[in-house]
Amino acid sequence: MNCAFGWCRRIFSSPHSLNSSIQRAYQSTFQAGDFCILRNVKSNKKYFVGPLEADAKRDLRGAIVPHSDIIGQSPRAIVRTNIATAAYMAHFPTLDEYVLNVPRACTPIYPKDASTIVELLDLEPDQRILEAGTGNGSLTLYLARAVGLAGRIDTFDVREQHSRAAQKHVERFRRGRYRDTVHFHLGSVGETLSSTLREREEIYDGIVLDMPEPVEELPRVIPYLKNDRFLVCYLPNMTQVLDLLDAVQSLPLAMETCIDTEWKEWEVRPTVIRKRQAEQDTEMQGTKNIGAWVCRPKNFEVRGHTAFLVKLRKCA
Ligand SMILES: C[S@@+](CC[C@H](N)C(=O)[O-])C[C@H]1O[C@@H](n2cnc3c(N)ncnc32)[C@H](O)[C@@H]1O
Repeated sequence: MNCAFGWCRRIFSSPHSLNSSIQRAYQSTFQAGDFCILRNVKSNKKYFVGPLEADAKRDLRGAIVPHSDIIGQSPRAIVRTNIATAAYMAHFPTLDEYVLNVPRACTPIYPKDASTIVELLDLEPDQRILEAGTGNGSLTLYLARAVGLAGRIDTFDVREQHSRAAQKHVERFRRGRYRDTVHFHLGSVGETLSSTLREREEIYDGIVLDMPEPVEELPRVIPYLKNDRFLVCYLPNMTQVLDLLDAVQSLPLAMETCIDTEWKEWEVRPTVIRKRQAEQDTEMQGTKNIGAWVCRPKNFEVRGHTAFLVKLRKCA
């Protein structure tokens, strides 16, 4: 892992190490330290298990799975349990499954937004990307995968606890495949960048900001973005989008797109027809002091509205 919290000392100093010799985890058998998706062969319900340890076991609603029964197996192996009717097929987790299931230091960017950000930034292999904040390292992994093993992600977070959690998640994903691509830095992105990179501007092919107040950091990060390249901000509320666009007026940035992504999952399966009971939550609204207006679609959940993705182009 780049940076065992020797943060800025290592910024831009270490050569890329292409760990192309690392075998893709999902092409091998399960090993200690891997994660596994156990899919119930009858119900298709999936369970995220791991990291695998020789002496550990997982209780899946009474069906006990010793990790040692998974270690050494190939993907798609059938894992049996103490309950004769409960059998599971073992799979390596996809990146989507991984980021949704690892422990959370903070709310991660969900797959639908992460993959859209990769697209909006126009990412391709070998690029160099700046990210803030690191958070759970969810988006970091999507960025790392897009720029590849010869690319570079510099990710900044003010909270050491978040940065450490993200390092762990990157380190554990696919046996550390992207550990050399991601460089972790501790500190507020604008300050840390300008104090370490005073002489070097226009080095990033893309910048992405997912933090509470991106507007304050914009003037300090923009010099490091290559001209005509893109910066994306992740903003849950429309009021934040409007604040951002106000700030952009005095910066060498042009608004390109504001997107609200939605994944509509369809249920497609053979079925026995059942009646569904819709549950209605009635919430009593108390009187509150209003500090700011929340202004976003109401269906705030993983597949509905999460945030607006605002894409800006540098036009110096
Ligand atoms: C919602 S989380 C980011 C989640 C992340 N995108 C992911 O996918 O896991 C927001 C992060 O921004 C960090 N943050 C807030 N202000 C910051 C700043 N000025 N510079 C760097 N990071 C900052 C917070 O500590 C927090 O970890």
